Amino acid sequence: MALTPPSERIWWKEPIAKIELIWIVVAFLWGLTMFFMMIYWHGAGEQNLSSEAYKIKPERFAEHTQAMIDKYKVREENGLPVVRPPPGSDVYLLARLWQWSPILELEKDQSYRFHMSSMDWQHGFSLQPVNINTQIHPGYEMVFSMTPNLAGEYGVICNEFCGIGHHTMVGKIYVVE
Ligand code: CUA
Repeated sequence: MALTPPSERIWWKEPIAKIELIWIVVAFLWGLTMFFMMIYWHGAGEQNLSSEAYKIKPERFAEHTQAMIDKYKVREENGLPVVRPPPGSDVYLLARLWQWSPILELEKDQSYRFHMSSMDWQHGFSLQPVNINTQIHPGYEMVFSMTPNLAGEYGVICNEFCGIGHHTMVGKIYVVE
């Protein structure tokens, strides 16, 4: 009965039944397997982005972005600069209420170092229709290497609610041959 103390003071110190021991070992080994699968899928599972994150002041990130725009702007679309940075270079995409800037034009099968950060609130980078997603925070830049392997026009939408203009926060990335 629960109202009376157990007869033995060290009531839990009982020998483990064989079947329980087997289950503990099975669960432990399975846990270990899943742990190493995590590392395996990271490399071989075509998972979503493995981005690096660095601290950066929003003004500093804006400077980097502006420098890239000044250097590699090729035209404008609806008042937004279209930028075509050379293959292998650092590419910046800036998120702010409620805009992705600039429009990027990248070459197919070329690698780029992609940097993203926010000027104000949390935004969500979602590349459509390929469904690549990452959160964008002010004060941090998310960095990853990317090699677009399919030419076309891609949409960038914001998938973190960021206020009244959230649904209008759409950007564009071109991948050209
Ligand atoms: Cu930015 Cu929602």
